[in-house]
Amino acid sequence: MIQKGLKGIVAAETLISDIDGENGQLFYRGYEIRDITKKFSFEEAAYLLWFGHFPNEEQLNLLKYQLKQNRDLPENIRIILDLLPPSMDLMSVIRTAISAEGGNSDYGWKPTISQAIRLTALVPMIIAYRKRQLEGKEFVPHRSDLDFVANYLYTLNGKAPLAAHVEALETYMILTLEHGMNASTFSARVTASTESDLISAITAAIGTMKGPLHGGAPSGVIELLDEIALVGDAEKVIRAKLTRGEKLMGFGHRVYKTHDPRAISLKAKLLDMVGEDEWLDLAMEVEDTAINLLAELKPGRSLYTNVEFYAAAIMKAINMDLVLFTPTFTASRMVGWTAHVIEQAENNTIYRPEAKYIGDFK
Ligand code: ACO
Repeated sequence: MIQKGLKGIVAAETLISDIDGENGQLFYRGYEIRDITKKFSFEEAAYLLWFGHFPNEEQLNLLKYQLKQNRDLPENIRIILDLLPPSMDLMSVIRTAISAEGGNSDYGWKPTISQAIRLTALVPMIIAYRKRQLEGKEFVPHRSDLDFVANYLYTLNGKAPLAAHVEALETYMILTLEHGMNASTFSARVTASTESDLISAITAAIGTMKGPLHGGAPSGVIELLDEIALVGDAEKVIRAKLTRGEKLMGFGHRVYKTHDPRAISLKAKLLDMVGEDEWLDLAMEVEDTAINLLAELKPGRSLYTNVEFYAAAIMKAINMDLVLFTPTFTASRMVGWTAHVIEQAENNTIYRPEAKYIGDFK
């Protein structure tokens, strides 16, 4: 029997995370993400995923130091970024820049946590360099007193970020660090399973992340909300879309058959942060209307908001440009991808499923 999209197929054993799709829970190394976002920083959560336990003070300081040490963009990456056409989308830019990093140092088999830290440190700087370049603004060198998330916002905007914005973005980035065998992580593990290098695995993952059914969904969410705001009738717009057979961006999930716990955490953070807000009110109205209409028109499919729906709202609340949504997701997911590639390398078997030939024999 064929399982289209490998639905329900268990392709690997992992110690990194666990998703309980029926009860809407996500665990990193056995810890529930809601607890992690409340008590720990981006760096602590990343350490947990890479090393399997939370860091003590010395270990945390060392990780922060290593992330800061690796933030400088190498000259060859800057030159390549300067040469890429302005029309090239940011995800393709990141993929290209990470490819170029592969030429600089030894990324041979097997992948290491040091390599993972370096690539994770580079991605926000690639995004910030490119974004400012396209805006005709000078690149802002990183500030060594700022941690990962604050420094990302600082290098993007060229000014010290608001504490509330850092907090909101940090919550989002912790929630999106890792998510089991999603399409991009699977891509990374498949590439690594040939004993290829970490750079190749990560560029494969970035290319997979880019698609609108995966990491590219938040811009679709903003378009949906903008359209509804314009028409002024959520039910009419959503019903028409569903009747035409269109998918609603930010809804549905392969694994969650109830509310995505990341969406719940992001919504709570947003309510806490912005309180009364016209746009957030609209998002909540669209959520309720869509869930009801999906239940009516797609009965039995258990469709709810996924992480992308409130990710879009959180990005909007912190004035993050639309083009940065998927790249920012990529910046956090670097941790999960690299952790998986390292795990794949530890106990490797090449991925090689089969395809059933359904053509004629001539
Ligand atoms: N809007 C309307 N209908 C939907 C939606 C949606 N967002 N999602 C699923 N459905 C319907 C499908 O049309 C299908 O109906 P059918 O049985 O009548 O054919 C049924 O629900 C099952 O859907 P599948 O697409 O088969 O579910 P699958 O597990 O393959 O896909 C996916 C999951 C890709 C996330 C899907 O729900 C989707 O396309 N959502 C919109 C895009 C999106 O928000 N992506 C971000 C996901 S989160 C992430 O990647 C970080």
